[in-house]
Amino acid sequence: MLCFGIGRQIPRGGQEWQVPVLLDIRNVTKTYDGANARPVLRDVSMTLNRGQTVALTGESGSGKSTLLHLSAGLDAFDGGEITVDGTALSSLDDTGRAALRRDTVAVVFQQFNLIPSLTVAQNLSFHARMAGRLDTAWLQELTGRLGLADLTDRYPEHLSGGQQQRVAIGRALAGRPALLLADEPTGNLDETASGAVLDLMLDLVALSGTALFLVTHSRQIADRLDRHVHLSGGKIA
Ligand SMILES: Nc1ncnc2c1ncn2[C@@H]1O[C@H](COP(=O)(O)OP(=O)(O)O)[C@@H](O)[C@H]1O
Ligand SMILES: [Mg+2]
Repeated sequence: MLCFGIGRQIPRGGQEWQVPVLLDIRNVTKTYDGANARPVLRDVSMTLNRGQTVALTGESGSGKSTLLHLSAGLDAFDGGEITVDGTALSSLDDTGRAALRRDTVAVVFQQFNLIPSLTVAQNLSFHARMAGRLDTAWLQELTGRLGLADLTDRYPEHLSGGQQQRVAIGRALAGRPALLLADEPTGNLDETASGAVLDLMLDLVALSGTALFLVTHSRQIADRLDRHVHLSGGKIA
């Protein structure tokens, strides 16, 4: 998509021109309703470029999940603007936000959120199929790299936590989204499974050219990404 006004434009593939900035969070504020409500996010600004990997850290309750939810169009912000792939989220209605998550932005949460009545193979292809972007060769490659080739006929309840999260990551990347938002994706896994899943996720986003915005507690993981931002007192440091 050709879009003016955000960042410098760079040529891609020799033909098409695309802006490098994929996610632009500008002066965003968010307060949840309720008694004694205080702003969770105050004037948060940051950008994430195409293909870039950025770690988001911060104390528990500092607003990391809130920022990811807002970026995915899962909740509304009070002030400022979030622009994803040239589209201002404030301009979208529910249908537009659903289309954004179908076509551009994938999310992986701490809870695996697989569909229990579908097999591994059906879960893996679900989102890409909905988006009309099922690429069987890519899906097969993902399945193999995620170590799921022998598990495709199983149902989620017969998988370990690490296996379930690998399915969730494969499902998220099957449609080659421009952006993957991952909120402590290994928070429910033990240390060994966590390391293996994160390694796979980093390899696969690099392979697919997907940008990654990853909430993590691990300084070690944060150091492996292109950039690291820290949320504190409702602001990004
Ligand atoms: N849906 C909600 N309604 C009211 N308060 C919320 C809601 N979600 C989060 N909060 C509050 O907003 C603050 C930030 O939460 P969150 O974004 O989940 O932080 P983090 O992910 O960094 O732990 C916390 O004080 C939390 O209690
Ligand atoms: Mg959180």
